[in-house]
Amino acid sequence: MLPPLRLVLCGSVDDGKSTLIGRLLHECQAVHEDQLQAVAQASRRYGTQGSDPDLALLMDGLMAEREQGITIDVAWRRFETPRRAFFVADAPGHEQYTRNMATGASTADFAVVLVDAEKGVLPQTARHSRIAGMLGIRHVVLAVNKMDRVGWDRTRFDAIAGAYRAVAEDTGITGMRAIPLSALTGENVTRHGARAGWYSGPTLLDHLETVEAAPPGGNESFRMPVQYVNRPHSDFRGYCGRIASGAVAAGDRVRIFPGGTETEIERIVVRKGERERAERGDSVTLMLREERDVSRGDVIAAADAPVEVADQFQAQLLWMGDAPLVVGRPHLLKLHARETGATVTRIRHRLDVVDGRTRPASTLGLNDIGSVNLETDRPLPFARYDENRTLGGFVLLDRRTGATVGAGMVRFPLMRAANLRWQDFDVTRETRAQAKGQRPRCLWLTGLPGSGKSTIANLLEKRLVAEGRHTYVLDGDNVRHGLNRDLGFTEADRVENIRRVAEVARLMVDAGLIVIVAFISPYRAEREFARGRFEPGDFREIFVDAPLGICEARDPKGLYARARRGEVKNFTGISSPYEPPEGPDLRLDTGTESPERCVERVLESLD
Ligand code: ADX
Repeated sequence: MLPPLRLVLCGSVDDGKSTLIGRLLHECQAVHEDQLQAVAQASRRYGTQGSDPDLALLMDGLMAEREQGITIDVAWRRFETPRRAFFVADAPGHEQYTRNMATGASTADFAVVLVDAEKGVLPQTARHSRIAGMLGIRHVVLAVNKMDRVGWDRTRFDAIAGAYRAVAEDTGITGMRAIPLSALTGENVTRHGARAGWYSGPTLLDHLETVEAAPPGGNESFRMPVQYVNRPHSDFRGYCGRIASGAVAAGDRVRIFPGGTETEIERIVVRKGERERAERGDSVTLMLREERDVSRGDVIAAADAPVEVADQFQAQLLWMGDAPLVVGRPHLLKLHARETGATVTRIRHRLDVVDGRTRPASTLGLNDIGSVNLETDRPLPFARYDENRTLGGFVLLDRRTGATVGAGMVRFPLMRAANLRWQDFDVTRETRAQAKGQRPRCLWLTGLPGSGKSTIANLLEKRLVAEGRHTYVLDGDNVRHGLNRDLGFTEADRVENIRRVAEVARLMVDAGLIVIVAFISPYRAEREFARGRFEPGDFREIFVDAPLGICEARDPKGLYARARRGEVKNFTGISSPYEPPEGPDLRLDTGTESPERCVERVLESLD
């Protein structure tokens, strides 16, 4: 019997996807229809107790998969015939159809592309095929549905198959067969129909039962991302995960990445006991010969076939955010079990899903595909997506809401930073702080124009200096005269404005100063990014709050009036958003409190 086939359905919303699945399930008298129960199991993860290794904690394959980021939230329906078992990615809902399809395609090995015989190949057909190809699917069947509606017209069928072949050719799809059928009547789905006498090929089910569709993945060296460290007591320490490629045996030499330290596999523990050997797809707990520092998101790999480690990549990105991608905006990236901050630093081009051409682009909208450069906060052990989908497929999440905004595939690492190394100096941050006799800090004032940031910064600095402190004020208007003179007030420019000032503030804190930052800094994501650049406690977000009406009445620079007249574009509070802090370290109400009182409160909050 052939191995189970994991398939995903692509096509436009009304092309008959549900009818076709329904028909297949019905005609195969589908026995089970099991939805994943991984969530419940995940919650048991930390239930380890007692002196024996808690083998119940070993995840089964399904749960491991759920944690691979890109596969989140797809339910697989299982059905089987006497000849083969199938898993169909269930991508419900019209709204997120493309996203769900992509999510399914990332672990499928075969795609059924549905086309409505009356409508032919639509932009959506091309888009989905391109996404499927990009996600590693090499084999498809083109199901030309609703043939009953076009009187089983052979010319029509040939024309559609021809048009689709042209699309498939440049999407990386190498195996394609077209089948005329009607999901409604069932003809050519599981049995031949008399009305299509001219068609001598297999039915859809025949084809699915016999097609060879090796999942992609070029490199078969041993690799396992560590999902979690199982340490019920001091004598047992195991590293759990699902083998992403290759095989491993007790006694094998392995290395642990990103660090690259070498050791040996001592034991391989599985749910039912112990094993000498395990391979791709198995969920295992590995015990190492020597004590090593291994954490979640590390990759254990064959010692003689190391994985790559980098923090800059070129990647293909499918954008799934409702709001367009902003270059420079910090996101969270999940790659296998690893999570880190990441930023798209450049859009190289956008792919036109219909004609397959590349176009210059400064942003990506919902369901756009682009080629981008990406930077992560920490080096990641990874593989190129076409060598290993598990180690090369990632998702981008919104930092604040946790929503998935992108799915990406690592194409290759960028070596720009490969020759750079952090240089340590003998005079440290602590030495400098001590020399100044103070605790360095970043006091980050955010708020609307006219809320009083500069006024408070000014008074605050005077008070600190009077107490013998070493300080500096970074003020939006001032920094924009020099370092940031190339930036305006678009969303992307403000993101970059804040990134730079956060980095400068960090250097100043490293130098031992108390830095007061007075920038509107309207977006939560960038303020969170700024916070992340400091040691916990060194960064204080201070919300300088006043109602818009009061700020506008103050209008210290006359800019509100000009913005109202339409003379200043993208003006914060009027024609550009301000996202108030949700949990600031301190909130000052400058509408009701005097500047002196506000400064007093800042000083009190600093112990
Ligand atoms: S931020 O949004 O990128 O953080 P920043 O604090 O650097 O802004 O600069 C804000 C200052 O630029 C304001 O105090 C104001 O004087 C000036 N400015 C000029 N145009 C605008 C605009 N469209 N929106 C906000 N501030 C503006």
